[in-house]
Amino acid sequence: MDQYIIRGGNPLVGEVDISGAKNAALGILAAAIMTDDTVLVENLPDVRDTNVLLAAIEEIGAKVERITRHAVLINGSKISDICVENEYIRQIRASYYLIGALLGKYKRAEVPLPGGCNIGSRPIDLHLKGFRAMGAKVELRHGSIFAEAEHLHGAHIFLDTVSVGATINIMMAACMAEGNTSIENCAREPHVVDVANFLNSMGANIKGAGTDVIRIRGVERLHATEYSIIPDQIEAGTFMFAAAATRGDVMVRNVIPKHLEATSSKLMEIGCEVEEFDSAVRVVAARRLSGTNVKTLPYPGYPTDMQPQIGVALSLAQGTSIVTESIFENRLKYLDELARMGGIAKVEGNTAIITGVEKLTGARVQALDLRAGAALVIAGLAAEGITTIDDIKFIQRGYETFDEKLRSLGAEIEIVSSEKQAQKFILKTG
Ligand code: UD1
Repeated sequence: MDQYIIRGGNPLVGEVDISGAKNAALGILAAAIMTDDTVLVENLPDVRDTNVLLAAIEEIGAKVERITRHAVLINGSKISDICVENEYIRQIRASYYLIGALLGKYKRAEVPLPGGCNIGSRPIDLHLKGFRAMGAKVELRHGSIFAEAEHLHGAHIFLDTVSVGATINIMMAACMAEGNTSIENCAREPHVVDVANFLNSMGANIKGAGTDVIRIRGVERLHATEYSIIPDQIEAGTFMFAAAATRGDVMVRNVIPKHLEATSSKLMEIGCEVEEFDSAVRVVAARRLSGTNVKTLPYPGYPTDMQPQIGVALSLAQGTSIVTESIFENRLKYLDELARMGGIAKVEGNTAIITGVEKLTGARVQALDLRAGAALVIAGLAAEGITTIDDIKFIQRGYETFDEKLRSLGAEIEIVSSEKQAQKFILKTG
């Protein structure tokens, strides 16, 4: 079983390029099958989640041609099956986007209930509420969602919780429904906007993405497009916190600084210098970080997907910090793993009170989910001695060549699959 092995203690220094946004890519790849024309998607991250989704759309009959590592041609004209069954599709959260895409295009979809990271109960009731409002009959049978509409029509939909997935999914189906749809209290995340821009480039008529009301006028067909995915704000933020926790100096390139404002502002608050350029941000941490309080919120608030990373940085900061996770209920468990490395935190419900320590020490820990895993990598990079991280498959769901990118910044990290390889790494780096 692959593990990351890290010898911590080196400040990260240098420049790193950020890949395309995984969460935008997942919506875009699903939406790409909504036209019978060929679609070119560029700046695609080469990570497990996007590769699983590509394999799933290929299995239902779409033609998928990877022309480079980061570009793919998709043609959905030969889709023969609206029933998505792929051995891995249940493991990824974004499989639910195939419901919206297939329902919009074929008015029918059969998709297994989604999996994804175990960070809370993660219902999809709002997605289904939206499809039902648009005239679809939606049922759960044998672990799969069956959705069908004789007449898919526009509707006025109010989301009582702000949900990225529901916003994108309903928006996709509404693109090819008859008439007008409005989605109120929708998510404003950059990837919602990116999926809307992609759909519009295929001929959809979506207005208001990025605000809390999206209006969609349904069209009969969508057409070919060439589209480049936005940079991944969470990958970027992860490197920014890695720079902060190791007291480094990192230029994070190929980003949209505006998307990183919540992260940048917290970094400045805890004592880092953050310099913004047109498509890069530089994070310099010249001294010990100081504690602060943070609460996760929908965009433009502080992202839940960046909560474990700031939690690790605060564990090394001077003073006491309070971290409140308001989106998912199960997202503070990484603090138990961090405790093995000397982190001190008291968790009560969705709040963690973190007492900063001078240093963490390397230990064997487990990646419990994608972002928790990435945060433990940051902890390992900052810690004294050797850290090994199990279950790195979770991290590989969303970070492209994470170890390579970190090595290019001076980190000592490798993937090992045996005790012998681990010993070799320890000797080499000792
Ligand atoms: C997406 C992201 C995930 C990120 C999250 C919040 C993808 C593939 N995943 O997940 O990385 O952490 O946004 O930014 O893009 N909810 C309901 N009913 C629903 C849907 C959601 O109650 O039908 C609740 C959830 O339990 C959660 C909140 O709404 O408390 C937000 O979830 P949502 O934005 O939907 O997250 P995902 O789209 O699953």
